[in-house]
Amino acid sequence: MIIIKIFYILAAHSIHIISTKKRQQKINISIVILSIMILFVDRVDELSFLEERFKSGRAELIVIYGRRRIGKTELIKQFMKDKDGFYFLARKQNMGLELERFGKKFGKKFNIFMESRTWDDIFEVITKFIRNKRFVIAIDEFSYWMDEEPAICSILQSIWDESLSKTRCFMILCGSTIGMMESLLTYGNPLYGRRTGQWKVDQLSFFDVKNFFPNYDIEELIKAYACVGGIPQYLLEFNPEFSLKENIEETFLNKGNILYDDAERILKDELREPIVYLNIMECINNGETTMSEISKKTKVDITNLSKYINVLMRRGLLKKEYPPT
Ligand SMILES: Nc1ncnc2c1ncn2[C@@H]1O[C@H](COP(=O)(O)OP(=O)(O)OP(=O)(O)O)[C@@H](O)[C@H]1O
Ligand SMILES: [Mg+2]
Repeated sequence: MIIIKIFYILAAHSIHIISTKKRQQKINISIVILSIMILFVDRVDELSFLEERFKSGRAELIVIYGRRRIGKTELIKQFMKDKDGFYFLARKQNMGLELERFGKKFGKKFNIFMESRTWDDIFEVITKFIRNKRFVIAIDEFSYWMDEEPAICSILQSIWDESLSKTRCFMILCGSTIGMMESLLTYGNPLYGRRTGQWKVDQLSFFDVKNFFPNYDIEELIKAYACVGGIPQYLLEFNPEFSLKENIEETFLNKGNILYDDAERILKDELREPIVYLNIMECINNGETTMSEISKKTKVDITNLSKYINVLMRRGLLKKEYPPT
């Protein structure tokens, strides 16, 4: 049985100004105001995992990661909505500024004085503040900090060992740079032995897609899923009031829409040789499926090719499929 758990998260008013010629004939300038309830779909396993850990009552350090637009932030917010805690969205900028921002935001939210000279100072105040409370501290986009300040993991390690681990704090470190977040789980990382759980957030399943397109028939649903998969943000880019064809025109074929070049953008953000990866994906998309064919077409040495393929598979961008016979 497929359990689909739905939370109503917000009533959103989104205004779509439709500008294609075809639709201009239909409805000159059409402004569609969608006053619909946007759904929070599924994530039953993820939420129950977090709730279970939360119930332990002990200090927990949880790593959450997954590709961009997959729904990590929303998941954390859903989990935190009935809990005492502090959510912080890290920025890719100088760590001195981040330290200041973190301290100020915490101080403002809980109305306490924060002198943000060092991370030790900040967490000393936080440790005193949370005392014996069950308290969530979620740092989203933690990988930005790892990138900016490689020492951040050892800094957190000593803070964890000396103070946070003795509290009932529930710390979440979340990030989108999969390679970097996975490095937190490896033996050499200072936080390796401190982590008490981890979850890689994956795409929603095909059965969840129906929630985004209540009026689509099964054929359209399959086609929509084939286009955008189970990535919530992409599913939300499609307007449920439009046909699939109209949606494709308004997104993948519309230069101003994120779907127009998001795949390329993500690869550029996350990988050092995006062009090589793009060439490999294009080649596979064109029907080449053996290592020797792909190597020949992309000019990537066959001995290095499996390394690139593995990276694409780990990021969920490529999947091995075998024919039924
Ligand atoms: N389970 C869900 N059901 C419905 N909408 C969702 C769900 N998860 C996420 N969304 C929506 O999808 C969009 C992207 O989600 P979110 O920002 O949480 O992704 P993310 O993984 O944090 O992305 P990024 O890595 O770019 O920060 C948001 O508009 C969010 O409200
Ligand atoms: Mg996010």
